[in-house]
Amino acid sequence: MKITVIGTGFVGVVTAAVYASFGHTVFGLDIDPNKIAKLKKFQPPFYEPQLEELLKKTQTKGWLHFTDNYREAVADSEVIVIAVGTPSNQDGSVNLDYLHSAIDSMIPYLKEKVIVVVKSTVPPGTFADLAERIKSQTQVAFELASVPEFLREGTAVQDTLNPDRVVIGTTSQSAFTVLESLHKPLKAPIIKTNPESAQLSKYTANAYLATRITFINQIADLCEKSGADVEEVIRVIGLDKRIGSHYWYPGPGYGGSCFPKDVKELAHYSIKAGEVDNLFVKIDQLNEKRLGKLFLSYEQLVGGFKDKQVAVLGLAFKPDTDDMREAPSLQFIPKLIKAGAKVMGFDPVAMNNAQNVFQTEIEANQLSLTGSVLEACQGADVILLLVEWPEFISFDYGLVRDTHKKQWLIDTRNRLPREKVKNLGFVYRGIGA
Ligand code: UGA
Repeated sequence: MKITVIGTGFVGVVTAAVYASFGHTVFGLDIDPNKIAKLKKFQPPFYEPQLEELLKKTQTKGWLHFTDNYREAVADSEVIVIAVGTPSNQDGSVNLDYLHSAIDSMIPYLKEKVIVVVKSTVPPGTFADLAERIKSQTQVAFELASVPEFLREGTAVQDTLNPDRVVIGTTSQSAFTVLESLHKPLKAPIIKTNPESAQLSKYTANAYLATRITFINQIADLCEKSGADVEEVIRVIGLDKRIGSHYWYPGPGYGGSCFPKDVKELAHYSIKAGEVDNLFVKIDQLNEKRLGKLFLSYEQLVGGFKDKQVAVLGLAFKPDTDDMREAPSLQFIPKLIKAGAKVMGFDPVAMNNAQNVFQTEIEANQLSLTGSVLEACQGADVILLLVEWPEFISFDYGLVRDTHKKQWLIDTRNRLPREKVKNLGFVYRGIGA
């Protein structure tokens, strides 16, 4: 079967490579020729473990192809998967410009009875407009299906190969049959829903996980005020099978390219649907305020950052990715600089992106990007751990302990061995204790 995947972000590239690994002929399409040139050389345009090997294997076998040419990618395709970005507008509503542009560009080359799969995250109701948009430009018969994606960055290949479920939202039985057989090799439960349920399921999953994180962050704040320890609280309630201890470690709030935008879009959708008083607006507000609130508490803790040397460990939004969208470093570093600190930053894989993002600060000598954890922490008054990379957790902080001065170790992920670093003489501050 010939399949086209439009968009070569995380979802697009990984989806294309996984479908190709089943032996289908897959064309990955992007309008950015630089991305296509890299992908043809097996280089993902972003850091993602295991992806390079999969790109190499599927392209070498002749199953996967990349192009910036719509005709080449779309002509004769039975299934077209749209995986372009759907960012938020200023008011939190979803921006469908990339989706519309992909649809308009593919229409001239559509094959009769093509199945158009929308993998991009879109709110319920979108399909009526999309169907109209396609019908107004072509006579070709087509079916629409919503197959949302649940992969995480950093584990995208494994998540796509081993999903908890596959959701196929369509009103067409024939489209469902084709898509069901396409996803069969994944050995995951396949759920048929209407398109609206599939679309809302995606927002529901992300908003629920974001709510869990915000909830535990609020409990962490109460722990700090009450003498309780959030890690002990999680251990206690986690044994309740209805609750569980997974996926709600407290921290600096959720970031990345998905949760912040999806919660905002769900909040906006709720208000539009007449649910003005809704949880999602509050979750978004609480998360938006979290970093500022933490920064003030750290400023108080260290007696102001003026003339302090601060090591910032972790510049992307989480480990195993170089994605800096909504990363805590984007707020902390400018705030530290404004408060008069000299900042040393390090990240195991996001240094190139950080170089671009913080070019002004680097040129003004307010921020130095270093080559290692050791280099970042050498001479630091304050070490601020923003991302839980294993190499930050296992690092021997004794190597940078200067017994002639007071030094603070701030662990925004609660992952460092507290007693050990306290015994080294650092003033330790975690979350929720
Ligand atoms: C998230 C979802 O987990 C995926 O299922 C979904 O497919 C994806 O969004 C998407 O919509 O495309 P991702 O953004 O890659 O995936 O990252 P997560 O690992 O879920 O983390 C999101 C944020 O929550 C990060 O800032 C992370 O540090 C934070 N987090 C996560 C916590 O603060 N505590 C936790 O317990 C877990």
